[in-house]
Amino acid sequence: MWIALLGTPALLVVLWLLLKKLNESYFILSLSRRVRTEDGSPLESKVAVMPGKTIFGNNLDILNFTPASVFNFVRESTAKAKGRNYLWYFLFAPMYNVVRAEEAEEIFQSTKLITKNVVYELIRPFLGDGLLISTDQKWHSRRKALTPAFHFNVLQSFLAIFKEECNKFIKVLNENLDGELDLNQVIPQFTLNNICETALGVKLDDMSEGNGYRKAIHAIEEILIQRVCNPLMYYNWYFFLNGDYRKHEHNLRIVHDFASGIIQRKRELFKQKQLGHVDEFGKKQRYAMLDTLLAAEAEGQIDHEGICDEVNTFMFEGYDTTSTCLIFTLLMLALHEDVQTRCYEEVQNLPEDSDETTVFQYNELVYLECAIKESLRMFPSVPFIGRQCVEECVVNGMVMPKDTQISLHIYDIMRDPRHFPKPNQYQPERFLPENTVNRHPFAFVPFSAGQRNCIGQKFAILEMKVLLAAVLRNFRLLPATQLEDLTFENGIVLRTQENIKVKLVKREASS
Ligand code: HEM
Repeated sequence: MWIALLGTPALLVVLWLLLKKLNESYFILSLSRRVRTEDGSPLESKVAVMPGKTIFGNNLDILNFTPASVFNFVRESTAKAKGRNYLWYFLFAPMYNVVRAEEAEEIFQSTKLITKNVVYELIRPFLGDGLLISTDQKWHSRRKALTPAFHFNVLQSFLAIFKEECNKFIKVLNENLDGELDLNQVIPQFTLNNICETALGVKLDDMSEGNGYRKAIHAIEEILIQRVCNPLMYYNWYFFLNGDYRKHEHNLRIVHDFASGIIQRKRELFKQKQLGHVDEFGKKQRYAMLDTLLAAEAEGQIDHEGICDEVNTFMFEGYDTTSTCLIFTLLMLALHEDVQTRCYEEVQNLPEDSDETTVFQYNELVYLECAIKESLRMFPSVPFIGRQCVEECVVNGMVMPKDTQISLHIYDIMRDPRHFPKPNQYQPERFLPENTVNRHPFAFVPFSAGQRNCIGQKFAILEMKVLLAAVLRNFRLLPATQLEDLTFENGIVLRTQENIKVKLVKREASS
């Protein structure tokens, strides 16, 4: 009889109404609670709720995505929300997408919303509980211990390393003047060498394992991107069965063994109080961030595993981010001759011999810094960052259930026409001091903001200025890639499917 009843249209209607009613509080097949407003007003008055493509919330909207389609999906969703922040509902939790500086401010400033969201779990096998991912007490104490490693005096000592690597880089460019220069081939090597020596105190080019390390980092990133694009891959069992799990493990071992081996050797030197003396390559040892960690270890504040996590975090955060920004800045300088000329004129004021240039003199390159900031605004190395509510919390006047995921779309925040008129135009003048006075303080956030901001931002700006100043002094940049040629991809950092190229023309002494 029940089977017969099931066939009747009346029962189907009743079932449908029941499901619909249930769906008002819970999405079907989703255990996630709805977000509600704190004052009882309609939710739509605070946020756009993005309709899913099916009754299952937004769960089935993003299956089988590619890095390029993820990038486009987020941009299309932002466009559909018409300048409002928006909500998605996934299997276990809602996701609050923030695209406006005004609401992002509360999240950046919050001392409670400092726990990273599920996306970061994908990087955990690589970075462990390092500064980027850790939270609460562990994060607080590590951040305090590591802050001195980015002090002005330390930056001054890193400057010598940046200059050495830069001289090597310019030599390579001089040897490859004909034709087009593939920036994706040469820039990452420069930034990886820099971060390796400043973090670990060793020159990657001097190490036999150097090439293997580079390749392994690259492979780890490729697999990470694969996982970021497919929500099913967030489950370890699914990744184990259907992803490149073994390849991932293999490359993780290479990267971890590399850092761990160097840490062991440096620890021996540290114990023998030999730092500052001559190393195994016969060179005088310079300060490296690792020294700060070894000193903390001596005081019982951190153990070997913790040191490895922090070193891996610096290598990861300090490598791709700066190379991405350098590649886009060089591209934009090639595409905007007027901006390039103005930057060139400014770098002409630096001493003839770059060995003599100080951090103060690089600080005075105000317009070059505007050019860097404008390319960070348009092409942020880190296009989104995430947080989550570890308990029910009130955010922007909305009550968010426990486990709500928050995605701060730095890319969209910095292309908001209310804060940056004609946002798709490259205009470094926006960042001249007189033009920033009335801007919302959280409209330009390429390094994030608040207490979980980027610890390495001054390091990054200095490193990039050293390279850009040297390139501009030696070469005129001409475009070989147009922006229209590029397909953008969402990875952990912003990427393009195509490699970015420029042409170089050697500058004569007076040109
Ligand atoms: C253009 C270059 C860079 C950009 C755009 C950038 C951007 C960012 C952003 C957006 C965050 C926040 C991440 C989040 O909340 O999930 C961050 C955090 C971080 N960055 Fe950078 N970064 C850059 C360079 C560097 C460098 C050179 C280093 C190290 C030498 C570094 C080390 C870190 C660390 C350790 C964190 C975590 C800080 C914490 O949570 O306390 N970054 N960075």
